[in-house]
Amino acid sequence: MRLAVFGATGRTGRCVLQQALDGGHQVTAFVRDPSKLSIDHPALTVSTQPLDDPTALAAALADHDAAASALGPNTSRQARAAITTTLTRHIIKALTESGTRRFVAVSAAPVGPVPPDEPFLGRKLFIPLIKAAFAPVYADLATMEAEIRASALAWTIVRPPRLTNGRGRNSYRQASKPTCPRAIRSPAPTWPTPSWPSSKTRHNGTDHRHRLLTRQHPRGALPPPRTPSLAVEHHG
Ligand SMILES: NC(=O)c1ccc[n+]([C@@H]2O[C@H](COP(=O)([O-])OP(=O)(O)OC[C@H]3O[C@@H](n4cnc5c(N)ncnc54)[C@H](OP(=O)(O)O)[C@@H]3O)[C@@H](O)[C@H]2O)c1
Repeated sequence: MRLAVFGATGRTGRCVLQQALDGGHQVTAFVRDPSKLSIDHPALTVSTQPLDDPTALAAALADHDAAASALGPNTSRQARAAITTTLTRHIIKALTESGTRRFVAVSAAPVGPVPPDEPFLGRKLFIPLIKAAFAPVYADLATMEAEIRASALAWTIVRPPRLTNGRGRNSYRQASKPTCPRAIRSPAPTWPTPSWPSSKTRHNGTDHRHRLLTRQHPRGALPPPRTPSLAVEHHG
């Protein structure tokens, strides 16, 4: 496949880019500063096309099969200015113009609902504290999510809890409601792999970057997760 990755110089985007290349895809990384990219690969094209010109961006996206975004604010001021929403809005427009329908965007776990099985301390203390501390970031991401949902794209929103930089396990477990409140609620996307999470999938969540482009693991073969789970929501 020919894939586009936005935010490829960021902590999450770098991992998405590496996994897309490892998966044998042709990848275009859209970056502001190519010197920030430490990855060199024959299947990698680097584009410095600015994101704020959707028509030019659409031309740069021609012939791509799918796009992934791990864009995020570099500063709290950028978050308050809703930079992720603004950039994603341009990307949605460009993807729509170019006919590239499949879009995967990284959001964050606190943007989703608090699962009913969240432990008491998480529900009453940790999650409210985190939400308050990063309120502008989550408000920006919530608006981004709403605009993605309102688009005509075939979209996937991934809400990871945190990036640990731990070793990827290349596996995840599945669970179904009510034990899996953060589950997927619609059919599986066709990208990155045909075996991407099917409906009602719960991820182990210890290292979300390695779970973004991962293979399906046989049901029940992993021990119960010890960290908050990664949530995935998608359409189309
Ligand atoms: N890191 C975590 O633990 C974690 C956990 C849950 C959710 N998330 C979410 O995942 C997303 C990515 O997080 P991250 O930690 O990987 O972020 P990050 O390391 O700060 O990377 C942000 C990326 O966005 C790009 N960017 C920022 N402003 C831009 C602009 N005006 N124009 C073009 N590109 C711009 C940056 O490009 P430059 O390199 O050029 O600045 C960089 O590639 C965020 O939405 C975050 O909320 C992260």
